[in-house]
Amino acid sequence: MKRTEAIELPAEEIAHQRALMREFAALESRPHTYCVVTYGCQMNARDSETLEGMLSEMGMTPAASREEADFVIFNTCCVRDNAQRRALGNVVWLKELKKTRPELMVAVCGCMMQQPGMGEQILRQYPFVDVAFGTHNLYRFAQLMLQAVRTRRRVVEVLGDDEGSIPEELPVRRSSPTHAYITIMYGCNNFCSYCIVPYVRGRERSRASARILEEARQLKDEGIKEIMLLGQNVNSYGLDVEGELSFAQLLAALDGVGIERIRFMTSHPKDLSDELIEVMATGKHICHALHLPVQHGSDRILASMNRRYTRERYMERVRALRERVPDVSLTTDLIVGYPGETEEDFEQTCDLVRQVGYDSAFTFIYSPRVGTRAADMPGQIDEATSSRRIQKLIAVQKEITRERFAGYIGQVHSVLVDEVSKRDETQVAGKNEYNITVNFPGSRELIGQIVRVKITSAGESTLRGELAQQ
Ligand code: SAH
Ligand code: SF4
Ligand code: F3S
Repeated sequence: MKRTEAIELPAEEIAHQRALMREFAALESRPHTYCVVTYGCQMNARDSETLEGMLSEMGMTPAASREEADFVIFNTCCVRDNAQRRALGNVVWLKELKKTRPELMVAVCGCMMQQPGMGEQILRQYPFVDVAFGTHNLYRFAQLMLQAVRTRRRVVEVLGDDEGSIPEELPVRRSSPTHAYITIMYGCNNFCSYCIVPYVRGRERSRASARILEEARQLKDEGIKEIMLLGQNVNSYGLDVEGELSFAQLLAALDGVGIERIRFMTSHPKDLSDELIEVMATGKHICHALHLPVQHGSDRILASMNRRYTRERYMERVRALRERVPDVSLTTDLIVGYPGETEEDFEQTCDLVRQVGYDSAFTFIYSPRVGTRAADMPGQIDEATSSRRIQKLIAVQKEITRERFAGYIGQVHSVLVDEVSKRDETQVAGKNEYNITVNFPGSRELIGQIVRVKITSAGESTLRGELAQQ
């Protein structure tokens, strides 16, 4: 059933939390410097910017290094086992640090915490963690910290899925003066058989379009050149709220705000509408780059994954898109070693990759996640087979990238300059409209500007060029 309006947290609750942030700032014995360690996707990166905003309001400043911080918080990911292991490994590393600096405070939050039993596990196995919370109560961070400092006891709070809401008006400390993330929706309803995200992020909740547009206008005034709209499946934006704009309509409205570049991710192929393709084709500021995760090339596996499209349907969408946006740059996510994947299935993934011609692809070995359907499926693939397959797939994509990048040589791209090259001070680097890094001779003054660059050669994952006539 559709809601009649976005489920924002009451303004009084946010005001209350902000009062608690100031209360924390006034505490005599509290940490003064912080370090936020972020794992996982852009959604988590955006959440960390909110954490930093709250930390500033709580009177804390960024520490010069992780070792020197009075407070370290890990914003975790659990989408694959290695993501989770990396996060936990680093948390344990702090245990040693805490022996020499007992006043050090440690917190863990994010997706990993939302898994069943994780709260208890933290209490039992990680006694040096002071505060732990999940994705649904991020906005209560100051309250939990206040409680921990005042009572000198450990605080663990994880809310259930049904408590997912939308926190508006929380402070934010953005990490870049030129790029900004805008979360347009939270959660996921798709329940792809392998994926834990719907379990740890809750159901789809779209922010009100009026809020999103207001945020975009403000960012434009602040000088932001590029926004990235975030959601696990942005194409279903608005569908949960009666009378809300569709994603294509939202995008068209955002295009009118006049920010120079608009990107978005992630698009689920099943809802890639003609309307959206049209907006991409006619928009002035929408980058011709689309991350369109296909996951697999075999219909049998796609059905088992519950992706709700066939290979043919995916290819039809790609054709429709390329027809209207011929220069579109496509990227994707691919999984190898999904339960029951035969050599033939795997070859179909390789074949699809060649057929589509992605500019680049993220390739993953399937990682069973407790509680998901695929974890209990027969035919789990051994590690040796999966690693052989991923190596082959990476090699196939590398060749395609080489061909695609060769096609860019001689073209003039617009590049938003990010930084002076770490290796060579006479070079600068930035992203072109296709989100590919371009290196070219230039100086610091160009940072933050969008310039025209003629592409002269291609590396494995980056392009090289020289400033063109502006
Ligand atoms: N919402 C996005 C992606 C979220 S997770 C989408 O639907 O495309 C990012 C990527 O991680 C997925 O696209 C998938 O390729 C990969 N992934 C998710 N669960 C995984 C698992 N259990 N094992 C391996 N890769 C996984
Ligand atoms: Fe996971 Fe599928 Fe949702 Fe993406 S769409 S977050 S892969 S369940
Ligand atoms: Fe990881 Fe959570 Fe993102 S599980 S991929 S950080 S939504």
